[in-house]
Amino acid sequence: MAATILDGNKIAADIRAEVAAEVKAMSAAGIRPGLAVVLVGNNPASEIYVRGKVKSCEELGIYSEKHTPPDTISTAQLLELVQDLNRRDEIDGILVQLPLPSPVDSKKILMAVDPAKDVDGFHPVNVGFLSTQRPGLVPCTPAGIIEILKRSNIPIAGQEAVVVGRSDIVGKPTAMLLINGNATVTVCHSKTRDLPGVCRRADILVAAIGRAAMITPDFVRPGATVIDVGMNKVTDPAEFHRLFGGNAKREETFRAKGSTLVGDVHPRVAEVAGAMTPVPGGVGPLTIAMLMANTLKAAKLRRGAEVPALSRA
Ligand code: GUN
Repeated sequence: MAATILDGNKIAADIRAEVAAEVKAMSAAGIRPGLAVVLVGNNPASEIYVRGKVKSCEELGIYSEKHTPPDTISTAQLLELVQDLNRRDEIDGILVQLPLPSPVDSKKILMAVDPAKDVDGFHPVNVGFLSTQRPGLVPCTPAGIIEILKRSNIPIAGQEAVVVGRSDIVGKPTAMLLINGNATVTVCHSKTRDLPGVCRRADILVAAIGRAAMITPDFVRPGATVIDVGMNKVTDPAEFHRLFGGNAKREETFRAKGSTLVGDVHPRVAEVAGAMTPVPGGVGPLTIAMLMANTLKAAKLRRGAEVPALSRA
């Protein structure tokens, strides 16, 4: 039987609507959550991501401002910008879009963001809060993965979860959230022995590797839930046909755009999995929705509010 497709667009829209309702109530009480996005240089992919973030703020009634210093900016100058945003009370969230140009010391910049405004959840203070189950700001994509599972009624507690990829942005925080949700968690990476065998143990398999269609059906236990965090652009027609030959809708997109977005999970996994997230339209939309939720959460946390469940596993 074909896997249930977990509709990330629908879940993200639900979350955005919930955030918008709370933002409206807060704004009526005189507090409008605000997000500052810092985009250094002209990375085309980053420009697209940042445009989406600013647009989503507008739709939800969140104040936003975009800072676009040139890629010649020094670490010291960027630190000054971050510190200025730290001081401004109307700014609740600060997001420094990554990657930064290589002469800039990224670690130093991320360390300079006030942890109370760190809507990416990248500051070591927030990493520590997450690992010790204290209220804090949780990275957006991992928080979105948990929302997909919860809102699809997929149990976490007691389940075997396998996370493939150990990045600071996705793999590690996702593993931490799953541990906090009482799953039994294994984290795999390039040195893992018998990767397919380890993955086959999973009730919940999270693929965050960055390699197109690497997770094939033989990695997946029949009936497992598969979460695909990959966003890989395929432009080679032969590769496209190997993956999607016979899929009329995909073929149309590929003909029109000359490329298509492929996850880390092979499309044929749909024949084995019990449920899976598509690419596009799975985890991707949750990243921005959770950024909006984090901006609202930061606005509340900074004012001493107790923050309820959303995004806390
Ligand atoms: N670049 C790619 N993903 C992200 C993200 O989640 N946050 C930031 N700040 N930059 C990114």
